[in-house]
Amino acid sequence: MKVKDAIVAIAAVLLMPVLLGGQAQAHETLQLDAPKPPLALTPPMGWNSWNKFACNIDEGKIRAVADAMAASGMKEAGYQYVVIDDCWQKDRAADGTIQADPERFPSGIKALADYIHSKGLKFGIYSDAGVKTCGGRPGSAGYEFQDARTYAAWGVDYLKYDWCNTGTRNAEAAYTLMAKALRQSGRDILLSICEWGDNKPREWAAKPGHQWRTTGDIRDSWDKDEGYSHSFLWILDSNADLWMDSGPNHWNDPDMLEVGNGGMTDTEYRSHFSLWAMLAAPLIAGNDLSNMSPETLAILTNHDVIAIDQDPLGQQGRRLVKDGDFEVWVRPLKGGDRAVVLFNRSGAAKTMAVDWETLQLPAGTKASVRDLWSKAVKKNVKGSYAAEVPSHGVVMVRITPTV
Ligand code: GLA
Repeated sequence: MKVKDAIVAIAAVLLMPVLLGGQAQAHETLQLDAPKPPLALTPPMGWNSWNKFACNIDEGKIRAVADAMAASGMKEAGYQYVVIDDCWQKDRAADGTIQADPERFPSGIKALADYIHSKGLKFGIYSDAGVKTCGGRPGSAGYEFQDARTYAAWGVDYLKYDWCNTGTRNAEAAYTLMAKALRQSGRDILLSICEWGDNKPREWAAKPGHQWRTTGDIRDSWDKDEGYSHSFLWILDSNADLWMDSGPNHWNDPDMLEVGNGGMTDTEYRSHFSLWAMLAAPLIAGNDLSNMSPETLAILTNHDVIAIDQDPLGQQGRRLVKDGDFEVWVRPLKGGDRAVVLFNRSGAAKTMAVDWETLQLPAGTKASVRDLWSKAVKKNVKGSYAAEVPSHGVVMVRITPTV
């Protein structure tokens, strides 16, 4: 080798990481060339394994949840996606194909997806934009297109894409790259972005994703926060001012439901479910559907509350009154109805009211008011509506102007 050639060869080796890095960057910043499929015109509804089972999952548990979703009335109420969260992965094959843990998923992911589809449900899976997932399993960094093709071949309908172990990666570019891979995969796959609201998702996430997390993780507690996992009240407060960001096919995601997991009372779970509906949140149950109390099922399948969450106008509700522990939340609905939640965070019951001015209804308007939990209806209500609200509870009503 001539001296000049040797210098060129050495320079090429030394420069390789820079060149490859540059290439990866250029690739990541490519624009999305296919439109986002309209898979979430109303907030997605389903179940996810993390809140109840964390890494302790296997195909038997997931099948049992799918059976319960189909048989319990949840499917009829609108729940659709069965999503396996972290820890289903084991390693990669020699050709890079992601492999499920053979001990926990001996029949393989495709068989599980087929089973879930046979119940008339949809199937979701989890990965991470980093080298490893939060649970230490292989992430999708560098394997985006291959993983998207694998998911499509398995029949995946929904991908939750997490943000652990991402180093200096740019979030917008990383999520855009996965969105591009999914859109090229030949299958419609909903993209659920999970970077915990750390990288200003309100500025970019609606383009690649159908929904994006706004905070760190929820925990099954009314008001006790612990590090990066947050109570129901903390997450609610963090989402109160984000109402302008969401709408059909692009939703704020205040994280999955804790209803039925045992850390709150049924009254508190009714508040959690009602306020998630006001936030137009994805309703992703996080309890063991194969073993739930009648009260839990009744909360999760309250059709009237679900209809608020799924309202086709898709306008997220707002907190219009905050008077210490007493709050009034309002959500405009298609056709001119309003959903209202009177929320009492205090330790004692309290009579609370909403007036027509807050609802932007002319003072003389008569309305029919339907309580969405007790189902009681009051007709010809004028000026304001008052009700006693239990401690830590809500009164949630649908107000229909009639004159
Ligand atoms: C992160 C996510 C959670 C869950 C875990 C899995 O914490 O925010 O929702 O997916 O990772 O490891």
